[in-house]
Amino acid sequence: MARSPAHPNLVMIGFMGVGKTSVGRLVAQTLGREFLDTDEMVERRARASVGEVFRRDGETVFRQLEADAIKEAVAYPARVVTVGGGAPLSVENRTLLKQTGFLVYLRAKPETLVKRLTHVHDRPLLAGADRLSRVRDLLSARDPVYETAGDALVDTDGITAQETAEQVVRWYRERVGLVGLT
Ligand code: S3P
Repeated sequence: MARSPAHPNLVMIGFMGVGKTSVGRLVAQTLGREFLDTDEMVERRARASVGEVFRRDGETVFRQLEADAIKEAVAYPARVVTVGGGAPLSVENRTLLKQTGFLVYLRAKPETLVKRLTHVHDRPLLAGADRLSRVRDLLSARDPVYETAGDALVDTDGITAQETAEQVVRWYRERVGLVGLT
């Protein structure tokens, strides 16, 4: 299936803690678009936090709920969507996201991610003592997937969510301008 021709969605992908949700909200505000975050959709559906779903039902159930949320999120065009860091690892999710929108990879170094995650304690995949090596390991496996899937890449080290959002909006306007979309 070709990418939806008019008003494509704009999807933020990237590692936990990079700031996808903050950036996505700012981008949606600037573009006057509806904003959806698939972790929030899962939490509403499960009536439990992502952490609780992992503990109570296991990761497989979480991934199924996440895949369902992605389907729902991209069912309408012109949205800004943020997905959990693990979502693009599934080929089905990736294919669907790419068919319906543009993907922006928000990238950061492991040290930056760990700093941004300082007060975040509800990421089951980061449990354990040595967070930096856990982030390094996961990121080295995931970075090539994010990079290949992304239509654009923004390096977010040393810049704010607002500055990142401005770069995303600039890229998006140029990109849709090139193909005559809005
Ligand atoms: C996950 C990322 C989390 C959340 C879950 C699993 C992952 O979302 O979906 O804890 O596999 O990277 P964020 O990327 O929004 O933190």
